[in-house]
Amino acid sequence: MDTEQICAGRTVIVTGAGRGIGRAHALAFAAAGASVVVNDLGSALDGAATGETPAEQVVAEIVALGGSAVANGDDIADWDGARRLVRQAVDAFGGLDVLVNNAGFVRDRMLVNLGEDEWDAVIRVHLKGHFVTMRHAIEYWRGEAKAGRPVDGRIINTSSGAGLQGSVGQGNYGAAKAGIAGLTLTAAAEFARYGVTVNAIAPAARTRMTEGVFAETMAKPDDGFDAMAPENVSPLVVWLGSPQSAGVTGRMFEVEGGKVALAEGWRHGVAVDRGARWAPEELGPVVAGLIAKAMLPEAVYGA
Ligand SMILES: NC(=O)c1ccc[n+]([C@@H]2O[C@H](COP(=O)([O-])OP(=O)(O)OC[C@H]3O[C@@H](n4cnc5c(N)ncnc54)[C@H](O)[C@@H]3O)[C@@H](O)[C@H]2O)c1
Repeated sequence: MDTEQICAGRTVIVTGAGRGIGRAHALAFAAAGASVVVNDLGSALDGAATGETPAEQVVAEIVALGGSAVANGDDIADWDGARRLVRQAVDAFGGLDVLVNNAGFVRDRMLVNLGEDEWDAVIRVHLKGHFVTMRHAIEYWRGEAKAGRPVDGRIINTSSGAGLQGSVGQGNYGAAKAGIAGLTLTAAAEFARYGVTVNAIAPAARTRMTEGVFAETMAKPDDGFDAMAPENVSPLVVWLGSPQSAGVTGRMFEVEGGKVALAEGWRHGVAVDRGARWAPEELGPVVAGLIAKAMLPEAVYGA
């Protein structure tokens, strides 16, 4: 572990850290000196139970490298499970400094075929799975702030290009990830008073979630830089979790390979205001004029 220890002494929760990008975050935080609560309930790509215990395996990897970690197998979208997760960090390591919301799964289908269960499950694991962990973490941090103890908290959420630009065949997932982008803005505004920043990332990496997409376009090179390795996403997340990122909040970062980008979201755009109500039949040329002056929307993935 030769990374500069920019998170020395900090306690970090990473959800869904048994595999993929979350596992890379957990290892990177440990290398940066943090104690890590490695959460994962070991579900299949579609959220089904598997009986696997990937969180324990990642804890063993961290401990073998000389780091400090404990495993948690709670469902992060369950109210009591998320509360236990926050409590475990405090009990095991004496506090909580960073919450990385990363866990989730996909059930991709065109909207015309999407079932109610597929909608509910994906919205629950991503959107509710971000809310309930933030809810219990901020309750802890508010208590610390009220008790007069210093709080330098960080929340890093995980959105997706599917939420920022849309993605054909991922209506449920894209809606959840767009919701996470919006939730990040409100949380950043509300939590600043407690000394907690809230940012989000939209990553891209080769994991089981994307191997079908990236296997052909971005195969792993025999040598040189593997731009699609999940480990490329983690340095920014570790920096966002460190004291160095104080003052950066409410931002959405796109991160892939060696690229870090700041996404710019919905903002008030070109407008016409005549100070009186329009009649419906008047609006055709008004809308055409606005569209002519506005930026073109980004392409929807897969369109
Ligand atoms: N891989 C990419 O290119 C990419 C792109 C955009 C966004 N993302 C997002 O990044 C995050 C990580 O994805 P990944 O590609 O590493 O996928 P992954 O499937 O490899 O890892 C996700 C992990 O979350 C765990 N998990 C699922 N439901 C859980 C629950 N209720 N409680 C606890 N753990 C649970 C799974 O067991 C799994 O280990 C996800 O939020 C995903 O939507 C990934």
